[in-house]
Amino acid sequence: MATNGRADHGSTQSEVIIRATDVTVRFGSKAILENLSLDVRRGEILGFVGPSGAGKSVLLRTILGLNAKQAGTIEVFGIDYERASTDERLAVEQRWGVLFQHGALFGSLTVLENVQVPMREYLTLSPKLMDELARLKLDLVGLAPDAADKFPSELSGGMIKRAALARALALDPDIVFLDEPTAGLDPIGAADFDQLIMTLRDTLGLTVYMVTHDLDSLFTACDRIAVLGDRKVLVEGPLDTMLSFDHPWVKSYFHGKRARTIATDDQGAAGAAGPQGA
Ligand SMILES: Nc1ncnc2c1ncn2[C@@H]1O[C@H](COP(=O)(O)OP(=O)(O)O)[C@@H](O)[C@H]1O
Ligand SMILES: [Mg+2]
Repeated sequence: MATNGRADHGSTQSEVIIRATDVTVRFGSKAILENLSLDVRRGEILGFVGPSGAGKSVLLRTILGLNAKQAGTIEVFGIDYERASTDERLAVEQRWGVLFQHGALFGSLTVLENVQVPMREYLTLSPKLMDELARLKLDLVGLAPDAADKFPSELSGGMIKRAALARALALDPDIVFLDEPTAGLDPIGAADFDQLIMTLRDTLGLTVYMVTHDLDSLFTACDRIAVLGDRKVLVEGPLDTMLSFDHPWVKSYFHGKRARTIATDDQGAAGAAGPQGA
């Protein structure tokens, strides 16, 4: 009865790089997540949705070991972070990158210095090499070279998201966690960001775990979607699975007026630009 979040994984051939099993998280007497199970597969863009306040950020922080859980296990790259040795933890931390929901950049550091923060924390590199690496990361996320010496307050919202993404990519991670990365961006900025995420997945073989409210992202960028509701993963699978799933919130979300508009607009573009294309 408990592990109903894993309906879709069955006999998949793709490697599972995150496996959450029967995870329960409470704050005081209030359960936020209860017996939640979820798999993330290597190389996919997983979109994670659910009502505001449902616990999407809590789950992300729990996966990252920043938030205690009361029950269940979470394995990342086959390692149970909670039980891992210090060396194993350090190794895991270098294989993931994070863009937190409200964790933009350090305002007192330049963009270049922000990107170098994880490098300083985990690696021993010469200043020259760190500069070169950080500039490569900025180039990777589509920021012009002159952004490097700017402070966050001098950047647009879209540039801040890109710089934060460059920082998440600083250590060449296998997976990036993005918590509402396109929130606050205009639709074109958001679409550009989605395109960047797809390009990075294709060129770097990155796995992307993206919490999002953005229906455009879900329709165009995500290979699979997981829905959080009633303290667990209600359903996970491709968009088609969402569209045929019988649950009030899932139905109103994926069949609402806004969703229908996107689905219609996308019919031409999805084949060419969607994750299955090329
Ligand atoms: N450290 C905390 N202590 C107590 N309650 C928390 C804490 N972090 C989150 N919550 C609560 O957990 C619930 C889920 O929050 P959150 O994961 O941020 O939702 P969302 O799905 O919008 O990301 C909210 O009710 C929030 O108030
Ligand atoms: Mg959140």
